Amino acid sequence: MGFDYLSDWKRTSYCGDLRIDDVGQEVTLFGWIHKHRDMGNLVFIDLRDRQGVIQVVVGSENQALLEKTKMLRMEYVLGIKGIVAAREDNLRNPKLSTGDVEVQAKELKILNVSAVPPFVVSDPPQATEELRFKHRYMDLRRPSMQRNFKLRHQAALTIRNFMSQNGFYEIETPFLTKSTPEGARDYLVASRMYKGRFFALPQSPQIFKQLLMISGFDRYFQIVRCFRDEDLRADRQPEFTQIDVEMSFVSQQDVFDLVEAMLALTFALIDVKVKRPFPRFTYQESMAKYGTDKPDLRFGMAIEDLTEIGSSLDSQVIQGALASGGALKALLVPQEAGLSRSQLDKLGQKARDLGGKGIIWIKKQQEFKSSLKLEEGDFKTIWEKLGGSEQDLVLLVAGETDTALKILGELRLDLVPEEAKKSGIYKFAWVTDFPLFEWDEDEKRLFSMHHPFTSPQDEDLKLLEERPLQVKARAYDVVLNGVEIGGGSIRIHDLGVQERIFRILGLQEEEIKSKFGFFLEALRFGAPPHGGIALGFDRIVMLLADEGSIRDVIPFPKTTSSLCLLTGSPSDVSEKQLQELGLKRKKED
Ligand code: AMO
Repeated sequence: MGFDYLSDWKRTSYCGDLRIDDVGQEVTLFGWIHKHRDMGNLVFIDLRDRQGVIQVVVGSENQALLEKTKMLRMEYVLGIKGIVAAREDNLRNPKLSTGDVEVQAKELKILNVSAVPPFVVSDPPQATEELRFKHRYMDLRRPSMQRNFKLRHQAALTIRNFMSQNGFYEIETPFLTKSTPEGARDYLVASRMYKGRFFALPQSPQIFKQLLMISGFDRYFQIVRCFRDEDLRADRQPEFTQIDVEMSFVSQQDVFDLVEAMLALTFALIDVKVKRPFPRFTYQESMAKYGTDKPDLRFGMAIEDLTEIGSSLDSQVIQGALASGGALKALLVPQEAGLSRSQLDKLGQKARDLGGKGIIWIKKQQEFKSSLKLEEGDFKTIWEKLGGSEQDLVLLVAGETDTALKILGELRLDLVPEEAKKSGIYKFAWVTDFPLFEWDEDEKRLFSMHHPFTSPQDEDLKLLEERPLQVKARAYDVVLNGVEIGGGSIRIHDLGVQERIFRILGLQEEEIKSKFGFFLEALRFGAPPHGGIALGFDRIVMLLADEGSIRDVIPFPKTTSSLCLLTGSPSDVSEKQLQELGLKRKKED
């Protein structure tokens, strides 16, 4: 079939922008056939472009045009010239932003045909993610996707302008570089010129942004791609985008003020008024109250400590846990006394999966019922302490403190009340004073909880070698609705402290030199006090767009098993390419 030429047709309006004020206008539209209905002498075409969908009507007064519509199929590319008309009252479609109007077609061009689409372009999507990712260009035609990427663009622009107005320069840092320690595995790129040597793609621009501070740029930012080879989840992709920020001569408070103002402006894009300052929790407070360092503050249900009450309870489980230095922690779940035995058993199983011994539950339904035999008075004491009511449920975990908190933190999220999950609620928080190190039992060594360039708190410097696990860092995370949307710190700018940290992390002198020698060298030449943060841009856009996964706000994402189904990567390469890079395929055994 021959197509029509575009020739001198010029778009006068996007389909999705037409409104009642446009009635009477002659318009030229371009778009894809979203749907069409052929009623014989009347044909309706839903024409879709990036702004939305408009109903186009072809009537019997133009037989040649009507004849042409008989060739139309889904996803054909059309040009339409026509007149905007008001729909009759009973034919208005309130679900469509253009639903008060339609376009009466006078001319129609078929600019291209489409093979039968692999799936119908519809919201919510009907096809599996596998099929949609294979034909992502089709999936991206969905109106919700078009909206998400418009929002992503607007958010990036808002942030760029905000940063520029606040005196920041956007400066690019290399992608072909050396390993940066952010805790994940590196993606490596083999060097052709230097066989057997590799670049690493940056897990973040951390070292480079610190070098830029040493260079005197004072205020840097970059909306930048980062690469991490790690297990994927709904909020993790192997390549993702950070809003990376670094500033000289600043305190933690300066970073907080900047980020709060930036986020307030960004969320104004979706008409959300962000309350500032954000509430703050130390790491310890957050763990004690919510069993996590990313508290979801859309609902209460803080964890309570019942260790004191526990010491007088007649229960071997509890006494055993307390005798070995553990604690009794409690979660009051309002109005959930109706949970069935099997639902409660599942919670118990989850507790065991997380390393605990199970849960104790207590319900109040007129009288107390519990998995633990206790005196009526004990139940009452617990209820009083927790402020429980009729029909409430209490979950208790006795055991090692961190494990008990982790279990109740997870159960708290599983039992979140429905109304807390409804969209439109945005609860930000800062979590501060993280430990500088954590102990890795498998590797039997210390790791930096953030990264090794994070400054210890001044008063803890003396503890570095002797009691490293007690040292607090000048590190902070920003959290939104239980999602970590950013993390940063005040950095070490003192060469001696930086060297001590590397040694405490178990790095040998040779290794320090080969991995970080260039950076230590730079610290010798007048490094200013500096600090910063990186925000997860994909996560922020995911929350702005009210989506459940960052895959919905990344145009060409990888699957959860790190594959690009569209291009079929990662893929094999030729022997010649391997040879050029000095690489040899290992024979499969
Ligand atoms: P961090 O590793 O905490 O800090 O990363 C900062 C933020 O980036 C986002 N993020 C991710 N988003 C999607 N997919 C991923 N795989 C992923 N990994 C991280 C998170 C996170 O809070 N250089 C430091 C920052 C600094 O100290 O200034 C860094 O990268 O939202």
